[in-house]
Amino acid sequence: MPFIYLVGILLAFSYRHAGLVNADPIASLTEKGFNFTYPGDVGFQTASEAFNLRYTYRPAIVAFPTTIDHVSQIVRVGYEEGYNVVARSGGHSYIAAGLGGKNNSIVIDMQNFNALSYDPGTQTAIIGVGNKLGNIITALNANGRALPHGTCAYVGWGGHATYGGYGFTSRLWGLAVDTIISIDVVLANGTIAKASKTQNPDLFWALRGAAGSFGIVTSTQVRTFEAPASATIYSYNWKLNITAATQALQTYQQFSLSPELPAELGIEVVLIPGDSRGTVGFNIAGGWYKPAAQLNATLKPFLDRMPEPSSSSFDIGDYLNSAKNLAGGSLDTTAPNGHDTFYAKSLITPERAPMDEKARRAFITYIANEGFGLDVGWFLQLGLWGGLNSAINVVPREETSFAHRDALFTMQLYAYSEGNVPPFPSSGLAFVDGIADSIVKNSPQGWDYGAYSNYIDDRLANADYLYYKRNLPRLKKLKEQFDPTGVFNSPTGIM
Ligand SMILES: Cc1cc2nc3c(=O)[nH]c(=O)nc-3n(C[C@H](O)[C@H](O)[C@H](O)COP(=O)(O)OP(=O)(O)OC[C@H]3O[C@@H](n4cnc5c(N)ncnc54)[C@H](O)[C@@H]3O)c2cc1C
Ligand SMILES: *[C@@H]1O[C@H](CO)[C@@H](O)[C@H](O)[C@H]1NC(C)=O
Ligand SMILES: *[C@@H]1O[C@H](CO)[C@@H](O)[C@H](O)[C@H]1NC(C)=O
Ligand SMILES: *[C@@H]1O[C@H](CO)[C@@H](O)[C@H](O)[C@H]1NC(C)=O
Ligand SMILES: *[C@@H]1O[C@H](CO)[C@@H](O)[C@H](O)[C@H]1NC(C)=O
Ligand SMILES: *[C@@H]1O[C@H](CO)[C@@H](O)[C@H](O)[C@H]1NC(C)=O
Repeated sequence: MPFIYLVGILLAFSYRHAGLVNADPIASLTEKGFNFTYPGDVGFQTASEAFNLRYTYRPAIVAFPTTIDHVSQIVRVGYEEGYNVVARSGGHSYIAAGLGGKNNSIVIDMQNFNALSYDPGTQTAIIGVGNKLGNIITALNANGRALPHGTCAYVGWGGHATYGGYGFTSRLWGLAVDTIISIDVVLANGTIAKASKTQNPDLFWALRGAAGSFGIVTSTQVRTFEAPASATIYSYNWKLNITAATQALQTYQQFSLSPELPAELGIEVVLIPGDSRGTVGFNIAGGWYKPAAQLNATLKPFLDRMPEPSSSSFDIGDYLNSAKNLAGGSLDTTAPNGHDTFYAKSLITPERAPMDEKARRAFITYIANEGFGLDVGWFLQLGLWGGLNSAINVVPREETSFAHRDALFTMQLYAYSEGNVPPFPSSGLAFVDGIADSIVKNSPQGWDYGAYSNYIDDRLANADYLYYKRNLPRLKKLKEQFDPTGVFNSPTGIM
């Protein structure tokens, strides 16, 4: 190990943990014969690269364990030597939280925990956290089964399923987190534990929504669903001025709240820059998991109140075809994943208090004017989480630490740099912050909005409350019990 890094590590260590003797996790893990990399070592650069190139963190170590016992021993080193320890599964955190969210963390890369088995007797699957969504879809589909989750093939199960996990089947089947029956986990002091409704129920509750603050999950057992025989991915597209887009948003909101909405309908509004200042691209996209012939009748109440679309598309096939479509054509994850350079925020609008006219108009006016001619690209998704038949909102708020069981829309506000490479201009940060403000500041005082921790955002004020709402006090209490010394204290976690 180069001398200069050793000095850096020792200095950082003695500053934070004066008094302990064994100060060097590199020595400790070398002694144990583990596979890991560290600053200056071959492979460290690649191993410590973030998906979002807006972030560069320098971990103390990136370790690649292959067994739960390894994970336990590595956590134990962090526990004893005073390091921030963090898991990385698919590495797709928006803010590189899987690298610790700060320098000098011990990163436990879970890519080798990629076992997946399906038991037809119980219709449950055991899924290692290192699996990527693409692999999971393919493996379960071979058994005629499926799960609710997001669209990108490269997103990892570990982060995705423990912080929520939304896709177009979520109104039908719930969030990925809601499919979890039991969890294998390593706790802050290195203890290996199981968590389920009957074993360590408090821990089970905390892990389903806030896992990163409580342990390193190695594997989950989940219930699965029959893959629908027919699945349609559809879209409709418009170019609208401010008045028409404000009206269209209200039409979408009313449609979302209509009591006839089938759970088999997944839908979102996608807003993109318009062709001129004062206009936006207004699009509907979604998945339909019943016979294709029934889709038009389902969308009719919405489309009847909209102008003529400029285009539309329908991809009709089996479930696997729909998943491929949403993943951009392929579920294969063998090639290295690409990167982006971006800033994203989320905003969850409550079903009991949908966006009012003032907020809708302020929001559309802001993006149609301020979003035109920017030096970043952007898209906004208003995914329908609620509606009367939504499986997400049937779950009681107290059931999981994941707290949003009254969401109407979960909005993703996403801006990326030109060419998807650094630098990311600060105008992009201001634009995205301004979108959220345009809605919140034009809504009634005390409007009960929230934020989604899988679209994690390190510029969000009052973040832990907005992520966990009324589940936050219990989470803080359990944090004291399960991680009293703060081994898993990344900046955006529960403290
Ligand atoms: C291209 C892209 C598309 C996306 N699409 C969707 C979508 O359709 N729907 C949706 O809901 N979300 C979507 N997301 C967001 C995604 O769900 C989150 O970024 C998710 O947290 C990524 O999980 P990961 O394991 O890949 O990331 P990581 O960066 O590895 O982890 C994310 C967080 O989870 C923690 N964590 C990871 N593994 C473990 C573990 N084993 N034990 C404890 N904590 C762990 C990490 O420490 C970190 O804080 C998308 C993200 C990207 C980049
Ligand atoms: C260590 O882990 C990395 C990542 O999984 C892998 O590429 C490498 O081959 C492993 N090295 C050894 C010696 O096992
Ligand atoms: C963290 O490490 C990165 C990469 O080495 C460096 O650019 C950055 O300045 C460091 N941050 C802090 C706060 O030391
Ligand atoms: C906005 O678009 C609608 C529908 O095309 C049109 O009737 C209206 O005149 C337009 N308003 C403005 C201010 O351009
Ligand atoms: C549904 O509507 C679209 C146009 O919106 C049309 O192209 C398609 O043929 C219709 N499908 C059926 C099954 O009627
Ligand atoms: C490790 O932490 C768990 C959870 O807080 C606790 O139950 C257990 O007793 C601890 N084990 C040791 C050896 O301290």
